[in-house]
Amino acid sequence: MNLLVTGGSGFIGSNFIRHMLNKYPGYRIINLDKLTYAGNPANLRDIENYPRYGFVRGDILEEAVVDVVMSRRPDAIVHFAAQSHVDRSIHSAHDFVRTNIVGTHVLLEAAKKYKIERFVHISTDEVYGSTDEGPFRETDILKPSSPYASSKAASDLLAFSFFKTFNLPVVITRSSNNFGPYQYPEKFISLAITNLIEDKKIPLYGDGRNVRDWLYVLDNCEAIDTVLHKGREGEVYNVGGGNEYPNIDIVTMLLDELGKDESYIEYVEDRPGHDRRYAVDTTKIREEFGWQPKRSFREALRDKIAWYQNNEDWWRPIKSGEFLDYYGKQYQNI
Ligand code: NAD
Ligand code: TYD
Repeated sequence: MNLLVTGGSGFIGSNFIRHMLNKYPGYRIINLDKLTYAGNPANLRDIENYPRYGFVRGDILEEAVVDVVMSRRPDAIVHFAAQSHVDRSIHSAHDFVRTNIVGTHVLLEAAKKYKIERFVHISTDEVYGSTDEGPFRETDILKPSSPYASSKAASDLLAFSFFKTFNLPVVITRSSNNFGPYQYPEKFISLAITNLIEDKKIPLYGDGRNVRDWLYVLDNCEAIDTVLHKGREGEVYNVGGGNEYPNIDIVTMLLDELGKDESYIEYVEDRPGHDRRYAVDTTKIREEFGWQPKRSFREALRDKIAWYQNNEDWWRPIKSGEFLDYYGKQYQNI
């Protein structure tokens, strides 16, 4: 199989590419990534010379670049590329609307033109909004809260319309919060671990009781792999870890693992529109395909901590701004 992966230099995309190339010796992958602040070639350093891996630095908003990669006739697209951080979307939604909505549209048009056999659209549980009771099912209405979540919801609907109207073979995954290696240190668990290693406090929003369902990234990669091969066209599949914790509990576990006390917690102003709880019902993907998360939360969390302890040369340049400066300059020249 020939795959086009968008956003493959980011957190989940890079874990997915590594997973697929190692699992399927006959597969070829082209990664189309703009290398924004969140895209990092170091995420794929260990496999970048594989003959079955190709990289194009390009923007999914640029039709000409998308056309070039599509002319290599991939069998399927797995579309990760997005602006992905809620706080940034609150600061400025511009790039979220452009990349997540317009960029997805450019890819859908190209997929239609080249009669793609599979379009896996990577979405999020955040499109459902917050729930105080019970989990969301795939058929529930979308009620996103942040500009990030709204832009993802818009892209889901656009993708679905290309299935309905043009028979484009779209499948959508909506996963809960991922964690694991190569996650940019602006996201909660990565920020918290790296702050503790740096002997800094963890900023905890509001009362610290917002709940997220944590999913180990490699379990998500297996779910995406499953949906790519077996998912029914026009269907949505929720993917969740079944690890619901209030943020304060996560912080307590991290303090415990890293031998720090509660003085390392800093309660800070809440995020505007902060969703209280995310939860997804994963019966559909479990019953149709037998997928389930393999890693226990605590074990995976320990692995993640160890990864950040052993890979300081990966995250320290990001946090110090060196990385941003380097790629920031290239970005400004576009
Ligand atoms: P990330 O921010 O780590 O990576 C995004 C990647 O997309 C980067 O490599 C970036 O350079 C690239 N990109 C951004 N704009 C682009 C553009 N215009 N053209 C080409 N490439 C571009 O994100 P992530 O956490 O790996 O998330 C990947 C996908 O999964 C996103 O669609 C996100 O909405 C979704 N998702 C993430 C989570 C999570 O917990 N991280 C949970 C559910 C869904
Ligand atoms: P985040 O990793 O930004 O993911 P999302 O908002 O997409 O779920 O945040 C996860 C949770 O942690 C969320 O409830 C906000 C909270 N949070 C903090 O308390 N402090 C922080 O510094 C960050 C980044 C997040």
